[in-house]
Amino acid sequence: MKYLVTTPIYYVNDKPHIGHAYATFAADVLARYKRMFGVPTYFLTGTDENSQKNVEAAGASGTSVLNYVDQMSALWQLTWDELGISNDDFIRTTESRHRVGVEKFWRTVSAKPDLIYKGTYEGLYCVGCEAFYRESDLVDGKCPTHDRVAELVKEENYFFRASRFREALLEHIEKHPEFICPEARRNEVVSYITNHLEDFSISRPNKQWGIPVPGDDSQTIYVWFDALLNYMTAVGYGTDEQRFKEWWPAELHIVGKDIIKFHCALWPAMLLAADLPLPRQVFAHGFFTIDGRKVSKSTGNAIDPKDLVETYGVDAVRYFLLREIPFGGDGDFSIARLAARYDSDLASGLGNLVQRVTTLAAQAATLPVGTSVAAAVTKQISLYHEAMSTIALSRALEITWETMRLCDQYLEEKAPWKLRTDPAKAEAFSEIMGEMVEAVRLISWMVLPFMPSTARAMLTMIGHESDMNRSAGEAMQWGAHTGHVQVRKPQTSLFPRFTA
Ligand code: MSP
Repeated sequence: MKYLVTTPIYYVNDKPHIGHAYATFAADVLARYKRMFGVPTYFLTGTDENSQKNVEAAGASGTSVLNYVDQMSALWQLTWDELGISNDDFIRTTESRHRVGVEKFWRTVSAKPDLIYKGTYEGLYCVGCEAFYRESDLVDGKCPTHDRVAELVKEENYFFRASRFREALLEHIEKHPEFICPEARRNEVVSYITNHLEDFSISRPNKQWGIPVPGDDSQTIYVWFDALLNYMTAVGYGTDEQRFKEWWPAELHIVGKDIIKFHCALWPAMLLAADLPLPRQVFAHGFFTIDGRKVSKSTGNAIDPKDLVETYGVDAVRYFLLREIPFGGDGDFSIARLAARYDSDLASGLGNLVQRVTTLAAQAATLPVGTSVAAAVTKQISLYHEAMSTIALSRALEITWETMRLCDQYLEEKAPWKLRTDPAKAEAFSEIMGEMVEAVRLISWMVLPFMPSTARAMLTMIGHESDMNRSAGEAMQWGAHTGHVQVRKPQTSLFPRFTA
C-alpha cells in the first residue's frame, strides 16, 4: 500500500497560471486524501527545464539559460508553497539525479537489439509544444496551440522504435480499462495508437542545452523523452534502486488532455522497452478557458493564481477551481463565477452553517451525539469516498455541500434557537446541537483534502482539533468523536462577505 501521484513537470518559460494550479491542486487533494488514511504517499511535481524554449526565453531576458531556469524554477516552487501544495518532492530536470537516471535509461534501451536507431527526420516542429506535427494537424501551417509557424526540420536523429509496442500497448489498455481515464480519452489514445503510432525521434542535433546522448555528444536527448523519465528519476531510478523499488510504479499521473499521447503511448512504450512496470493510471483533465479560449500565455489571457488568492484566500481558490468543472471536462473561468460561488457556497453555505452551529452549541451544557441524521450523513460519506476513488473531485465537493444542506434543513425543522431559553427543553436543545457538532466534525473531514486550513479551523471551532492527528479510517464515522468538547462561540467567520 503506497501512493505515488504526479503532476506534469511544468515548462519554466513562464510563471504558473490557473490552468497549472488546477492540475497541481487536484494532485494535492488526492495526496492529502490518501495521507488522511495513513497511506504512505509520495506527491511529486517539478519543472521541465531542458526545453529549447528556455534557450529562447533566456536569450530574450538577457541572462544565461542556467540562471534563467534557476530563477524560474524557484518561482514555481514558491508559488506552490503559497498555494498550500503539499508536494513531497520537487524535481528539476537539470538536477544530476535526473540526468544520471536518464543516461541509465538510454543505455538500458540502447543495449536491447534494434530499439534505438539512427535515421533522418523530416517534419514540422513547434518549439512551443516541443513536438513534431503532421501537415494535417496544422492550421495555415501554424501550430493550433501556439499560433506559431511550425519549422520545417530535416536532421539526423536517434529514433525509438515505439511501433514495436503497438500491439502490447493496445492489449494493456484493453486489459486495464482504468489505465486511461476518462473513457473519451482512452478511445482517442486507442485510435492514435492504432492509426498513427510511429517511431519517435528522440534526439536533436547540435543543441547547446539539454542532456547529451550517452556516447554521442553531438546529439541532445529529445525533451519529452527526458521529461517523462522524471517520474522515475525522482524516486531513485538510476541513483537509489532500493527507493525506486519501494515507490515505482506510480499510482497516478495527472495530466492535461493535450499531453495524453506522450503519457499513454510514448511513456508506456518506453517502460515496456526497459522491462519496467507501467503506471496504474493516467487521468487527463480538461482546460480552463476564458470566453471559450484556453487559458495560456500564448493566448495572452493567463491569470496568476496568486492574484486570486490575494482577494479570496487560498482555500476559496482551491475550492472554486475544483468545484467549477467536473474533473476531466473543460470549463470557463470567470471572476464573476468565483465571486458568486464564494458568496453562495462558502460565505452563505459552509461559513453560515458553522457559524450557526457553533454559536448555538456554545450555549449547550452537554453535547450528546444522537442518531437522527446519522444514517443520512453516513450515506453521504460513503458517496464521497466513492467519488474520491474515481477522481470525481467536483462531485465529491457537491456531496459535501449536500451534507451541509441536510444539516441546514434539520436545523430549520427543529429550530433549536426556540428551545434554548426554555429550561424544560434544555435536553432536546443539547441533543440537536450534539448531532450538529458531530455532523460538522465529519463535514470538516470531507472538506480537509480540498481546503486544509478551513477544515483545521472548523475542527478547532468545535473543539475537535485533536481529530487532525487521527486517521480518517477511524475518525470518519458517525459517533467516532473523541469525547466531550467545549464549543467556543465563534469570533470571526470562516468566509467573510465582501459585500453586506
Ligand atoms: N513540460 C510538459 C509536461 C511534461 S510531463 C513529463 C508540459 N508543460 S506545460 O507547462 O506546458 O503544461 C503543463 C500542464 O498544464 C499540461 O498538463 C497542460 O494540459 C496544463 N495546462 C496548461 N494550460 C491549461 C489550462 N488552461 N487549463 C488546464 N490545464 C492546462 O506540457
